[in-house]
Amino acid sequence: MDMVNGKMGSEQLQAQARIWNHIFNFINSMCLKCAIQLGIPDTIHHHGQPMTLDALISALQIHPSRAHGVERLMRILVHSGFFEQKKLSPDGGDTYVLNRVSELLLKDSPLSVAPFALAMLDPILMNPWHGLGAWFHNHVDPTPFEMMQGMSLWRYADNEPRLNRFFNEGMASDARLVGSVVVNQCKGVFEGITSLVDVGGGTGTMANALASTFPHIECTNFDLPHVVANLELSKNVKCVAGDMFEAIPPGDAILLKANLQWILHDWSDEDGVKILKRSKEAISKGKGKKKKVIIIDMVMENRKGDKEMNETQLFFDMLMMILASGRERNETEWAKLFVDAGFGDYKITPILGLRSLIEVYPS
Ligand SMILES: C[S@@+](CC[C@H](N)C(=O)[O-])C[C@H]1O[C@@H](n2cnc3c(N)ncnc32)[C@H](O)[C@@H]1O
Repeated sequence: MDMVNGKMGSEQLQAQARIWNHIFNFINSMCLKCAIQLGIPDTIHHHGQPMTLDALISALQIHPSRAHGVERLMRILVHSGFFEQKKLSPDGGDTYVLNRVSELLLKDSPLSVAPFALAMLDPILMNPWHGLGAWFHNHVDPTPFEMMQGMSLWRYADNEPRLNRFFNEGMASDARLVGSVVVNQCKGVFEGITSLVDVGGGTGTMANALASTFPHIECTNFDLPHVVANLELSKNVKCVAGDMFEAIPPGDAILLKANLQWILHDWSDEDGVKILKRSKEAISKGKGKKKKVIIIDMVMENRKGDKEMNETQLFFDMLMMILASGRERNETEWAKLFVDAGFGDYKITPILGLRSLIEVYPS
Protein backbone atom coordinates (compact mmCIF):
# COMPACT_ATOMS: atom_id res chain seq x y z
CA MET A 1 0.00 0.00 0.00
CA ASP A 2 1.28 3.36 -1.03
CA MET A 3 -0.20 5.30 1.90
CA VAL A 4 2.30 7.42 3.84
CA ASN A 5 1.11 8.59 7.27
CA GLY A 6 -2.50 8.46 6.16
CA LYS A 7 -1.69 10.52 3.05
CA MET A 8 -2.17 9.34 -0.50
CA GLY A 9 0.78 7.83 -2.33
CA SER A 10 1.30 8.09 -6.08
CA GLU A 11 -0.53 4.85 -6.90
CA GLN A 12 -3.57 5.98 -4.96
CA LEU A 13 -3.53 9.36 -6.61
CA GLN A 14 -3.49 7.59 -9.96
CA ALA A 15 -6.39 5.41 -8.81
CA GLN A 16 -8.26 8.52 -7.70
CA ALA A 17 -7.66 10.14 -11.08
CA ARG A 18 -9.08 7.01 -12.76
CA ILE A 19 -12.21 7.20 -10.61
CA TRP A 20 -12.61 10.91 -11.27
CA ASN A 21 -12.32 10.25 -14.97
CA HIS A 22 -15.19 7.77 -14.72
CA ILE A 23 -17.28 10.02 -12.48
CA PHE A 24 -17.10 12.79 -15.03
CA ASN A 25 -17.43 10.70 -18.19
CA PHE A 26 -20.98 12.04 -18.56
CA ILE A 27 -19.42 15.45 -19.33
CA ASN A 28 -18.28 14.06 -22.68
CA SER A 29 -21.86 13.07 -23.56
CA MET A 30 -23.31 16.37 -22.35
CA CYS A 31 -20.77 18.47 -24.26
CA LEU A 32 -21.56 16.48 -27.39
CA LYS A 33 -25.29 17.07 -26.84
CA CYS A 34 -24.68 20.78 -26.28
CA ALA A 35 -22.62 21.05 -29.49
CA ILE A 36 -25.49 19.46 -31.46
CA GLN A 37 -28.14 21.63 -29.76
CA LEU A 38 -26.17 24.81 -30.47
CA GLY A 39 -25.61 23.64 -34.06
CA ILE A 40 -21.82 24.01 -33.84
CA PRO A 41 -21.02 21.42 -36.56
CA ASP A 42 -23.58 23.02 -38.92
CA THR A 43 -22.27 26.51 -38.21
CA ILE A 44 -18.65 25.57 -38.99
CA HIS A 45 -19.83 23.68 -42.09
CA HIS A 46 -21.86 26.64 -43.43
CA HIS A 47 -18.91 28.96 -42.81
CA GLY A 48 -17.16 27.09 -45.63
CA GLN A 49 -13.62 27.68 -44.34
CA PRO A 50 -11.72 27.27 -41.05
CA MET A 51 -13.65 29.28 -38.47
CA THR A 52 -12.14 31.50 -35.77
CA LEU A 53 -13.52 31.43 -32.25
CA ASP A 54 -14.85 35.00 -32.63
CA ALA A 55 -16.64 34.12 -35.86
CA LEU A 56 -18.11 31.03 -34.22
CA ILE A 57 -19.33 32.98 -31.17
CA SER A 58 -20.88 35.59 -33.40
CA ALA A 59 -22.55 33.09 -35.75
CA LEU A 60 -23.97 31.16 -32.79
CA GLN A 61 -25.31 34.47 -31.40
CA ILE A 62 -23.83 33.77 -27.98
CA HIS A 63 -24.31 36.54 -25.41
CA PRO A 64 -20.95 38.24 -24.56
CA SER A 65 -21.29 37.11 -20.93
CA ARG A 66 -21.18 33.47 -22.12
CA ALA A 67 -18.52 33.85 -24.82
CA HIS A 68 -15.73 32.49 -22.57
CA GLY A 69 -17.66 29.22 -22.35
CA VAL A 70 -17.52 28.56 -26.10
CA GLU A 71 -13.71 28.40 -26.10
CA ARG A 72 -13.82 25.95 -23.19
CA LEU A 73 -16.54 23.87 -24.81
CA MET A 74 -14.57 23.74 -28.07
CA ARG A 75 -11.40 22.78 -26.18
CA ILE A 76 -12.99 19.65 -24.75
CA LEU A 77 -14.69 18.80 -28.06
CA VAL A 78 -11.35 19.08 -29.86
CA HIS A 79 -9.79 16.94 -27.14
CA SER A 80 -12.51 14.31 -27.70
CA GLY A 81 -11.77 14.26 -31.42
CA PHE A 82 -14.96 15.96 -32.68
CA PHE A 83 -13.25 18.94 -34.33
CA GLU A 84 -9.75 19.80 -35.53
CA GLN A 85 -8.01 22.97 -34.43
CA LYS A 86 -5.81 24.67 -37.00
CA LYS A 87 -3.50 27.69 -36.97
CA LEU A 88 -3.74 29.40 -40.35
CA SER A 89 -0.45 31.28 -39.83
CA PRO A 90 2.29 31.00 -37.17
CA ASP A 91 1.16 34.21 -35.42
CA GLY A 92 -2.56 33.83 -36.16
CA GLY A 93 -5.23 32.55 -33.77
CA ASP A 94 -6.72 29.08 -33.82
CA THR A 95 -9.53 28.10 -36.13
CA TYR A 96 -11.89 25.12 -36.07
CA VAL A 97 -12.68 22.68 -38.85
CA LEU A 98 -14.90 19.62 -39.07
CA ASN A 99 -13.47 16.13 -39.27
CA ARG A 100 -15.06 12.79 -40.24
CA VAL A 101 -16.74 12.50 -36.85
CA SER A 102 -18.34 15.95 -36.75
CA GLU A 103 -19.46 15.55 -40.38
CA LEU A 104 -21.79 12.83 -39.08
CA LEU A 105 -23.29 15.37 -36.65
CA LEU A 106 -24.54 17.76 -39.36
CA LYS A 107 -28.29 18.04 -38.90
CA ASP A 108 -29.07 18.08 -42.64
CA SER A 109 -26.74 15.26 -43.62
CA PRO A 110 -28.72 12.23 -44.77
CA LEU A 111 -26.41 10.07 -42.64
CA SER A 112 -26.57 12.31 -39.55
CA VAL A 113 -26.17 10.68 -36.14
CA ALA A 114 -27.46 13.87 -34.45
CA PRO A 115 -31.11 12.72 -33.97
CA PHE A 116 -29.87 9.47 -32.45
CA ALA A 117 -27.56 11.35 -30.05
CA LEU A 118 -30.34 13.73 -28.98
CA ALA A 119 -32.73 10.82 -28.44
CA MET A 120 -30.30 8.79 -26.35
CA LEU A 121 -29.32 11.80 -24.25
CA ASP A 122 -32.88 12.98 -23.60
CA PRO A 123 -33.79 13.08 -19.88
CA ILE A 124 -36.57 10.49 -20.44
CA LEU A 125 -33.99 7.92 -21.52
CA MET A 126 -31.26 9.13 -19.13
CA ASN A 127 -33.41 9.14 -15.97
CA PRO A 128 -33.60 5.31 -15.62
CA TRP A 129 -29.82 5.19 -15.14
CA HIS A 130 -30.28 6.88 -11.77
CA GLY A 131 -32.38 3.91 -10.68
CA LEU A 132 -29.97 1.15 -11.69
CA GLY A 133 -28.66 0.49 -8.15
CA ALA A 134 -32.15 0.39 -6.63
CA TRP A 135 -33.43 -1.81 -9.46
CA PHE A 136 -31.02 -4.60 -8.48
CA HIS A 137 -33.02 -4.89 -5.22
CA ASN A 138 -36.41 -4.46 -6.90
CA HIS A 139 -37.94 -7.73 -8.04
CA VAL A 140 -41.06 -6.25 -9.61
CA ASP A 141 -40.11 -4.00 -12.51
CA PRO A 142 -38.57 -5.73 -15.53
CA THR A 143 -36.34 -2.74 -16.34
CA PRO A 144 -34.96 0.38 -14.62
CA PHE A 145 -36.94 2.30 -17.27
CA GLU A 146 -40.21 0.82 -15.98
CA MET A 147 -39.18 1.33 -12.36
CA MET A 148 -38.38 5.01 -12.90
CA GLN A 149 -40.97 5.95 -15.54
CA GLY A 150 -43.84 3.74 -14.43
CA MET A 151 -44.34 1.88 -17.73
CA SER A 152 -42.41 0.16 -20.52
CA LEU A 153 -40.52 2.21 -23.08
CA TRP A 154 -42.96 1.20 -25.83
CA ARG A 155 -46.04 2.12 -23.75
CA TYR A 156 -44.41 5.39 -22.75
CA ALA A 157 -43.77 6.15 -26.44
CA ASP A 158 -47.41 5.35 -27.17
CA ASN A 159 -48.54 7.87 -24.53
CA GLU A 160 -45.96 10.59 -24.99
CA PRO A 161 -45.80 12.00 -28.54
CA ARG A 162 -42.49 13.80 -27.85
CA LEU A 163 -40.74 10.53 -26.92
CA ASN A 164 -42.42 8.74 -29.83
CA ARG A 165 -41.17 11.46 -32.21
CA PHE A 166 -37.58 11.80 -31.01
CA PHE A 167 -37.16 8.05 -30.55
CA ASN A 168 -38.44 7.35 -34.07
CA GLU A 169 -36.28 10.16 -35.50
CA GLY A 170 -33.23 8.70 -33.74
CA MET A 171 -33.99 5.23 -35.09
CA ALA A 172 -34.67 6.54 -38.59
CA SER A 173 -31.34 8.40 -38.68
CA ASP A 174 -29.53 5.18 -37.83
CA ALA A 175 -31.57 3.26 -40.39
CA ARG A 176 -30.49 5.77 -43.08
CA LEU A 177 -26.82 5.28 -42.26
CA VAL A 178 -26.93 1.49 -42.00
CA GLY A 179 -29.39 1.26 -44.90
CA SER A 180 -26.97 3.04 -47.22
CA VAL A 181 -24.18 0.57 -46.34
CA VAL A 182 -26.48 -2.43 -46.66
CA VAL A 183 -27.89 -1.50 -50.08
CA ASN A 184 -24.44 -0.63 -51.42
CA GLN A 185 -22.30 -3.37 -49.94
CA CYS A 186 -24.64 -6.27 -49.23
CA LYS A 187 -26.58 -6.54 -52.50
CA GLY A 188 -25.98 -10.31 -52.69
CA VAL A 189 -27.95 -10.82 -49.49
CA PHE A 190 -31.15 -9.81 -51.29
CA GLU A 191 -30.61 -11.92 -54.43
CA GLY A 192 -33.55 -14.20 -55.20
CA ILE A 193 -35.79 -12.52 -52.60
CA THR A 194 -39.20 -11.48 -53.97
CA SER A 195 -40.79 -10.09 -50.79
CA LEU A 196 -39.42 -8.73 -47.51
CA VAL A 197 -40.98 -7.57 -44.23
CA ASP A 198 -39.05 -5.16 -42.02
CA VAL A 199 -40.26 -6.15 -38.55
CA GLY A 200 -40.18 -3.31 -36.02
CA GLY A 201 -39.27 -1.19 -39.03
CA GLY A 202 -40.17 2.05 -37.24
CA THR A 203 -41.03 4.83 -39.65
CA GLY A 204 -40.03 2.77 -42.69
CA THR A 205 -36.62 4.26 -43.57
CA MET A 206 -35.05 0.87 -44.22
CA ALA A 207 -38.02 -0.49 -46.18
CA ASN A 208 -37.99 2.67 -48.34
CA ALA A 209 -34.24 2.30 -49.02
CA LEU A 210 -34.58 -1.38 -49.93
CA ALA A 211 -37.61 -0.77 -52.15
CA SER A 212 -35.85 1.93 -54.13
CA THR A 213 -32.67 -0.14 -54.62
CA PHE A 214 -34.47 -3.43 -55.31
CA PRO A 215 -37.77 -2.40 -56.99
CA HIS A 216 -38.59 -6.06 -57.78
CA ILE A 217 -38.83 -6.83 -54.02
CA GLU A 218 -42.25 -6.27 -52.48
CA CYS A 219 -41.36 -4.48 -49.22
CA THR A 220 -43.53 -4.19 -46.11
CA ASN A 221 -42.88 -2.01 -43.07
CA PHE A 222 -44.36 -3.63 -39.97
CA ASP A 223 -44.57 -1.97 -36.54
CA LEU A 224 -46.88 -1.11 -33.66
CA PRO A 225 -50.01 0.93 -34.55
CA HIS A 226 -48.83 4.20 -32.90
CA VAL A 227 -45.58 4.07 -34.90
CA VAL A 228 -47.08 3.41 -38.33
CA ALA A 229 -50.14 5.65 -37.92
CA ASN A 230 -50.19 8.31 -40.68
CA LEU A 231 -46.88 7.18 -42.19
CA GLU A 232 -46.18 8.24 -45.74
CA LEU A 233 -43.98 5.64 -47.38
CA SER A 234 -42.75 5.13 -50.95
CA LYS A 235 -45.61 3.98 -53.12
CA ASN A 236 -44.15 0.47 -53.52
CA VAL A 237 -43.82 -0.07 -49.72
CA LYS A 238 -46.76 -1.56 -47.81
CA CYS A 239 -47.36 -0.50 -44.24
CA VAL A 240 -48.82 -2.99 -41.76
CA ALA A 241 -49.62 -2.41 -38.08
CA GLY A 242 -49.46 -5.30 -35.64
CA ASP A 243 -47.69 -7.11 -32.85
CA MET A 244 -44.69 -9.23 -33.81
CA PHE A 245 -45.33 -11.55 -30.87
CA GLU A 246 -48.68 -12.48 -32.39
CA ALA A 247 -48.13 -12.69 -36.15
CA ILE A 248 -45.79 -11.27 -38.78
CA PRO A 249 -46.99 -10.67 -42.37
CA PRO A 250 -45.67 -13.27 -44.86
CA GLY A 251 -42.51 -12.64 -46.90
CA ASP A 252 -39.50 -14.55 -48.32
CA ALA A 253 -37.26 -12.53 -46.03
CA ILE A 254 -37.85 -11.07 -42.58
CA LEU A 255 -35.59 -8.19 -41.61
CA LEU A 256 -34.89 -7.59 -37.93
CA LYS A 257 -32.75 -4.52 -37.94
CA ALA A 258 -31.18 -3.63 -34.70
CA ASN A 259 -30.38 -0.09 -33.84
CA LEU A 260 -30.55 0.44 -30.17
CA GLN A 261 -32.72 -1.82 -28.16
CA TRP A 262 -32.94 -2.88 -31.66
CA ILE A 263 -35.41 -5.59 -32.08
CA LEU A 264 -33.72 -8.81 -31.03
CA HIS A 265 -31.33 -7.27 -28.59
CA ASP A 266 -34.33 -5.56 -27.00
CA TRP A 267 -35.69 -8.76 -25.76
CA SER A 268 -34.87 -11.60 -23.41
CA ASP A 269 -33.90 -14.98 -24.91
CA GLU A 270 -37.44 -16.27 -24.45
CA ASP A 271 -38.92 -13.29 -26.30
CA GLY A 272 -36.15 -13.49 -28.91
CA VAL A 273 -37.04 -17.11 -29.66
CA LYS A 274 -40.72 -16.13 -29.90
CA ILE A 275 -39.97 -13.38 -32.45
CA LEU A 276 -37.75 -15.75 -34.44
CA LYS A 277 -40.48 -18.43 -34.44
CA ARG A 278 -43.03 -15.90 -35.73
CA SER A 279 -40.45 -14.91 -38.38
CA LYS A 280 -40.01 -18.56 -39.39
CA GLU A 281 -43.78 -18.94 -39.81
CA ALA A 282 -43.83 -15.75 -41.91
CA ILE A 283 -41.09 -16.91 -44.31
CA SER A 284 -42.74 -20.32 -44.67
CA LYS A 285 -45.66 -18.42 -46.27
CA GLY A 286 -43.41 -16.38 -48.61
CA LYS A 287 -43.97 -17.17 -52.31
CA GLY A 288 -40.31 -17.15 -53.48
CA LYS A 289 -37.78 -19.99 -53.43
CA LYS A 290 -35.14 -18.36 -51.23
CA LYS A 291 -36.06 -17.84 -47.59
CA LYS A 292 -34.14 -16.25 -44.78
CA VAL A 293 -34.26 -14.02 -41.74
CA ILE A 294 -31.84 -11.10 -41.99
CA ILE A 295 -30.68 -9.68 -38.68
CA ILE A 296 -28.67 -6.50 -38.26
CA ASP A 297 -27.38 -6.54 -34.72
CA MET A 298 -24.28 -6.71 -32.55
CA VAL A 299 -22.25 -9.85 -32.11
CA MET A 300 -20.42 -9.30 -28.84
CA GLU A 301 -16.71 -10.04 -28.59
CA ASN A 302 -16.19 -9.89 -32.36
CA ARG A 303 -14.11 -6.71 -31.99
CA LYS A 304 -11.71 -7.89 -29.32
CA GLY A 305 -8.69 -6.01 -30.65
CA ASP A 306 -10.49 -2.65 -30.68
CA LYS A 307 -10.84 -1.25 -27.15
CA GLU A 308 -13.27 1.54 -28.11
CA MET A 309 -15.59 -0.73 -30.16
CA ASN A 310 -15.47 -3.35 -27.45
CA GLU A 311 -16.41 -0.79 -24.81
CA THR A 312 -19.25 0.56 -26.95
CA GLN A 313 -20.68 -2.97 -27.28
CA LEU A 314 -20.55 -3.25 -23.48
CA PHE A 315 -22.37 0.12 -23.25
CA PHE A 316 -25.10 -1.18 -25.55
CA ASP A 317 -25.50 -4.35 -23.51
CA MET A 318 -26.10 -2.20 -20.39
CA LEU A 319 -28.46 0.04 -22.36
CA MET A 320 -30.55 -2.99 -23.31
CA MET A 321 -30.84 -3.95 -19.65
CA ILE A 322 -31.87 -0.43 -18.66
CA LEU A 323 -34.43 0.21 -21.36
CA ALA A 324 -35.90 -3.05 -22.54
CA SER A 325 -34.96 -6.35 -20.80
CA GLY A 326 -32.69 -7.11 -23.72
CA ARG A 327 -29.06 -8.02 -24.03
CA GLU A 328 -26.28 -8.18 -26.54
CA ARG A 329 -25.16 -11.68 -27.52
CA ASN A 330 -21.95 -13.34 -28.64
CA GLU A 331 -21.92 -15.81 -31.53
CA THR A 332 -22.52 -18.85 -29.30
CA GLU A 333 -25.55 -17.16 -27.73
CA TRP A 334 -26.93 -16.16 -31.13
CA ALA A 335 -26.44 -19.72 -32.42
CA LYS A 336 -28.39 -21.12 -29.45
CA LEU A 337 -31.26 -18.71 -30.12
CA PHE A 338 -31.42 -19.84 -33.77
CA VAL A 339 -31.42 -23.54 -32.83
CA ASP A 340 -34.08 -22.97 -30.15
CA ALA A 341 -36.29 -21.23 -32.72
CA GLY A 342 -35.88 -24.18 -35.13
CA PHE A 343 -33.54 -22.66 -37.71
CA GLY A 344 -30.95 -24.79 -39.51
CA ASP A 345 -27.96 -22.59 -40.28
CA TYR A 346 -26.67 -19.04 -40.16
CA LYS A 347 -23.95 -16.81 -41.59
CA ILE A 348 -22.45 -13.76 -39.87
CA THR A 349 -20.91 -10.97 -41.94
CA PRO A 350 -19.21 -8.36 -39.73
CA ILE A 351 -19.60 -5.52 -42.22
CA LEU A 352 -21.47 -2.84 -40.27
CA GLY A 353 -18.99 -1.37 -37.79
CA LEU A 354 -20.23 -2.26 -34.35
CA ARG A 355 -22.92 -4.45 -35.81
CA SER A 356 -23.01 -7.46 -38.12
CA LEU A 357 -25.35 -8.72 -40.79
CA ILE A 358 -26.61 -12.19 -39.84
CA GLU A 359 -28.46 -14.39 -42.31
CA VAL A 360 -30.48 -17.19 -40.70
CA TYR A 361 -31.79 -20.04 -42.82
CA PRO A 362 -34.67 -22.45 -42.13
CA SER A 363 -33.66 -26.13 -42.03
C1 LIG B 1 -35.20 0.00 -31.70
S1 LIG B 1 -36.51 0.28 -32.73
C2 LIG B 1 -35.93 -0.21 -34.32
C3 LIG B 1 -36.55 0.54 -35.47
C4 LIG B 1 -36.09 0.14 -36.88
N1 LIG B 1 -35.83 -1.27 -37.03
C5 LIG B 1 -34.91 0.94 -37.37
O1 LIG B 1 -33.89 0.35 -37.64
O2 LIG B 1 -34.99 2.17 -37.44
C6 LIG B 1 -37.56 -1.07 -32.30
C7 LIG B 1 -38.89 -1.03 -33.03
O3 LIG B 1 -39.67 -2.18 -32.63
C8 LIG B 1 -41.00 -1.77 -32.53
N2 LIG B 1 -41.74 -2.74 -31.69
C9 LIG B 1 -41.68 -2.90 -30.34
N3 LIG B 1 -42.51 -3.85 -29.94
C10 LIG B 1 -43.14 -4.32 -31.07
C11 LIG B 1 -44.13 -5.33 -31.31
N4 LIG B 1 -44.62 -6.05 -30.30
N5 LIG B 1 -44.54 -5.56 -32.58
C12 LIG B 1 -44.03 -4.81 -33.62
N6 LIG B 1 -43.08 -3.85 -33.45
C13 LIG B 1 -42.64 -3.61 -32.19
C14 LIG B 1 -40.91 -0.38 -31.91
O4 LIG B 1 -42.08 0.37 -32.12
C15 LIG B 1 -39.71 0.18 -32.65
O5 LIG B 1 -40.05 0.87 -33.83
